[in-house]
Amino acid sequence: MALREVLKFPDKRLQEISTPIEKITDEIRELSGDLLAVMYDEPGIGLAAPQVGETVRLIVVDTEWTADDAEQNPLVLVNPEIVESSGKIVWTEGCLSVPDFEADVERASHVKLRASNLEGEDLEIDASELQAVCFQHEIDHLDGILFIDRISRLKRNLYTQRRKKLLRRELEEQLER
Ligand code: NI
Repeated sequence: MALREVLKFPDKRLQEISTPIEKITDEIRELSGDLLAVMYDEPGIGLAAPQVGETVRLIVVDTEWTADDAEQNPLVLVNPEIVESSGKIVWTEGCLSVPDFEADVERASHVKLRASNLEGEDLEIDASELQAVCFQHEIDHLDGILFIDRISRLKRNLYTQRRKKLLRRELEEQLER
């Protein structure tokens, strides 16, 4: 089965606000499986449903997994929200929807997250460091926010120009063929 395509900046769909999930249906379970498949394939440590064009409040996260280590401990989080946050941390972030770019982002270093799982059970997770950063990054996607919206305008503009130039070049090459 083909993997779902990850939308890339500046796709406008990445700016949409996702809607809460009222009921865990087969579609939602299937979408969770699709998100995990893409996340582990890339590989990434988190992915949000809007990144594959589905604007519902669903994220998957696995901050312990690395490509060399086969052990997978995925968290599938339905309607995740941060209910408490404290401290500050600066982390160099990247995103599957923001190709060829990383930048330092300041976020809360500790968060308490509430969500439900695919069985409809309530979860509460106290997260710190990488996992806290990842939760905040993925939940931002559900609100139409990318990590480049949280860096300086100068850095964002430099990236935007570089990205647009690359896309223009790719388009020209396609037209020449
Ligand atoms: Ni991302």
